[in-house]
Amino acid sequence: MQKKYLMTPGPTPVPAEVLLTQAAPMIHHRTPDFSAAFMEAIDGLKYVFQTEASDVLVFASSGTGAMESSIANCFCPGDSVIVCRNGKFGDRMKQIAEVYGLNVIDLAYPWTQVVDPADVATALEENPGVRGVIVTQSETSSGVLNDVEKIGAIVREHPDVVLIVDSITGIGAVECKTDEWGLDVVMTGSQKGLMLPPGLAAVTVSEKAWRAYERSTLPKFYFDWKKYKKNLEKQTTPFTPAVSLILGLNEALKMIREEGIENVIARHARLAEATRKGCEALGLKLFAPPEGRGNAVTPVWVPEGVDGKAIVKIMKDKYGVTIAGGQDEYAGKIFRVGHLGYFGEFDIITTLAALEMTLAELGYEFERGAGIRAAEAVFMGA
Ligand SMILES: Cc1ncc(COP(=O)(O)O)c(C=O)c1O
Repeated sequence: MQKKYLMTPGPTPVPAEVLLTQAAPMIHHRTPDFSAAFMEAIDGLKYVFQTEASDVLVFASSGTGAMESSIANCFCPGDSVIVCRNGKFGDRMKQIAEVYGLNVIDLAYPWTQVVDPADVATALEENPGVRGVIVTQSETSSGVLNDVEKIGAIVREHPDVVLIVDSITGIGAVECKTDEWGLDVVMTGSQKGLMLPPGLAAVTVSEKAWRAYERSTLPKFYFDWKKYKKNLEKQTTPFTPAVSLILGLNEALKMIREEGIENVIARHARLAEATRKGCEALGLKLFAPPEGRGNAVTPVWVPEGVDGKAIVKIMKDKYGVTIAGGQDEYAGKIFRVGHLGYFGEFDIITTLAALEMTLAELGYEFERGAGIRAAEAVFMGA
């Protein structure tokens, strides 16, 4: 037997209470029982998204479904949108926008850099008639945290521009104040901070985003927001929902409410800090810049002379600790430790211990125990 530890930024570990709820016998979705559960889930999601003003719509899909829905529902063919991208998921937003025939104004940055809100302001000034700004808050491929609060303050001044925020690994890990920051569309997926298996996506829709919807002529059917809104008014969904996931979501949301969203975020900040300090104490270099490091995942440069793919493989095969490798051009060059959702202090200690043992086996020279000691110091407040 080998005990397993899932230390990836999605899918993430699912608490036993949440798993057990999903094992309950199936209920039909056109019943008062389902409606009650569904409305409880919507209420809990509003709490997590920190919104009262926006609608929250839920799809049976992965996060990419929510991304695609945001494009299909807010724009017309040929509309110009500013896509801010500094990683794989920003790239995906650009791809989706292009597939739908939008004119993309590309604000591309290296993966190790944060999006500069001043560039968004300039792009808006230089391109009158732009209809949307799209940004990834927590870029999972790079660990970079983009400042959507500042970008929100800029976009708020433009009444015809919607701000679309991919917060798929932001929600539940970092502060994301949908109403207060003027975020028009915010999305997340179930297999991340919500501590569920994959299969659900949720999106917030502000009044401004509904105005964009009303003028939008892009084709849509399964992800047509209005269908979800009309059915929400009847406490149900337009299509067969992922019933078990909704029931599990309520259990997860109960845990989040009990801890309190601010404390959930503070826990993530502590875990991220301990991971960063632990890795640095081993002489490793962090990938994301100090001014923009998120709490969901810690990407780390593979040290010179060490096989990056071997780090991930040995940790998984020999020690049962699954971390993520780098994506696209960073495959083999970085590794990523996820700490998003159902994570505690000893998950980090365990992972750092496995990392130390793995690096030692691969011939990397460092002071054994230094990583764990640094993480402990963070947890002890020393
Ligand atoms: C920031 C971000 N956006 C989008 C996605 C895509 O979500 P999914 O894989 O659920 O379609 C992910 C998944 O890892 C993500 O981390």
